[in-house]
Amino acid sequence: MGNINQDNSSVVVPLGHGDPSHFPSFRTTPAAEDAIVDALRSAKHNCYATTVGILPARRAIADYLNRDLSYKLTPGDVYLTIGCNQAIEVVTAVLSRPGANIFLPRPGYPHYEPWCAYNHLEMRHYDLLPKKGWEVDVDAVETLADENTAAMVIINPGNPCWNVCSYEHLNKAKHACFTFRI
Ligand SMILES: Cc1ncc(COP(=O)(O)O)c(C=O)c1O
Repeated sequence: MGNINQDNSSVVVPLGHGDPSHFPSFRTTPAAEDAIVDALRSAKHNCYATTVGILPARRAIADYLNRDLSYKLTPGDVYLTIGCNQAIEVVTAVLSRPGANIFLPRPGYPHYEPWCAYNHLEMRHYDLLPKKGWEVDVDAVETLADENTAAMVIINPGNPCWNVCSYEHLNKAKHACFTFRI
């Protein structure tokens, strides 16, 4: 936004509408705000928590996700991070091994590239197709994949394009990426 030419009269649409501080129509529910205030004021949580997240939080997340899963998660399957950026840092480190490559969407969210570089993961970019509602270029993915492909990043809902992939499309993309494994 800082680079916008103020002399240009074009209408600018901010794409940060989900940011509650700048766009108060997306106010967080008071129930969540109160829970955080209560936890702070209780003075029961000013301690070193386990790195993977406290048990009641991991249990609540597992229970919530289990409502839509055909298999069952336990709290031990849940690893909590301080937001998505830390998750990207952890996951790229976990996936790193000599020769491994990872697929990243283009356009995509810029935090992936520095962490893949840091963890020596070879980055292979696949395009999102604007004329197809920013769907994955499945044919290109198929030609890029090989036995060293460790993961494919799909940002869904997309950032920065805000598209939402159908289950059918997600399955196609997964098969294109991991035909070597399936
Ligand atoms: C795809 C993606 N990854 C990571 C982040 C960063 O998330 P967080 O602020 O939770 O670290 C965002 C935030 O919008 C995002 O859209």
